[in-house]
Amino acid sequence: MNQKRKHTSVMLEECLKGFEGCHLPVFFEGTVGAGGHAEAILSAHPEIERYIACDQDPEALELAKERLTPWKDKVEFVRANFKDLDEVLKARNVEWVNGFFFDFGVSSMQLDQGEKGFSFMREGPLDMRMDPDGQLTAKEVVNSYSEKKLGEIFQTVGEEPHWRKAARAIISARKNKPIETTQELSSLMTEALAFKRGGKLHPATLVFQALRIVVNQELEAIEIGLKKALDFLTPQGRVGTIAFHSLEDRIVKNMFRSACFKPKSKTGKGFLNLLTKKPWMPSFKEAKKNPRSRSAKMRFAEKIAAL
Ligand SMILES: C[S@@+](CC[C@H](N)C(=O)[O-])C[C@H]1O[C@@H](n2cnc3c(N)ncnc32)[C@H](O)[C@@H]1O
Repeated sequence: MNQKRKHTSVMLEECLKGFEGCHLPVFFEGTVGAGGHAEAILSAHPEIERYIACDQDPEALELAKERLTPWKDKVEFVRANFKDLDEVLKARNVEWVNGFFFDFGVSSMQLDQGEKGFSFMREGPLDMRMDPDGQLTAKEVVNSYSEKKLGEIFQTVGEEPHWRKAARAIISARKNKPIETTQELSSLMTEALAFKRGGKLHPATLVFQALRIVVNQELEAIEIGLKKALDFLTPQGRVGTIAFHSLEDRIVKNMFRSACFKPKSKTGKGFLNLLTKKPWMPSFKEAKKNPRSRSAKMRFAEKIAAL
């Protein structure tokens, strides 16, 4: 349990800065995880009446429940994918939301749980589902997708420069027997890519990341969920995001920008105001203390009151 608790929330101060001065009676968090951002937001905003705390991982929700006990009368825990946030909100008779927050990707707790299969550092089944009831596992992707499809995933989602070699190594290995565990895949990537890769990155890093994103359909969820969040956001309400992957961040950036600049009304104004013209990044101090935070990019936008 203690091991599972080790998630250090990223850019907490910046998150509070993003919501500073914003009145937040109704708040929706799509990725509550261990509840670190929730704790900070609830402490800083006593005006919160309803805090809808969503996560697709039931174990994360249990941890968040424990941590957020002091606010138990305000917090509603929901096991759901945030791409379905419209259904979650409608089922609770919520028409407008004053604040949204999303901290995309997996938590360190999930990475550290070998049995979830996210980490090339820990032995476990090739699973990688955040939602344990999800249909697709990494094992299925690795053992049934064609070489072309795997190559495409490693190239476009993983941004793995040696995507062709990675896909070919998998196809050749699985002819003998299915690839079942994280260590089998990790060793295969080390063998296939170690010579190609300089620097500190483990040879399996980008392949594992790509598989995780595909298994959990993370990019689709961001695209769908964020669009729905903007629809539910009340004028003067704010939305904040943290992305750890360039493709995730690009979706947020493009969606915020197009909502800012594309004429959406007769006045020719957009309906969002960018609060972060460039993404906020963790401080040097934070990046040093928590290396996982290094790739984080935070963005905030506010809905314009009058169109
Ligand atoms: C980086 S962690 C969040 C950590 C949290 N902010 C904290 O301070 O403890 C991301 C969490 O989001 C969840 N998650 C990722 N994608 C999701 C989705 N599409 N719907 C619901 N939960 C999701 C994961 O299960 C994980 O618990």
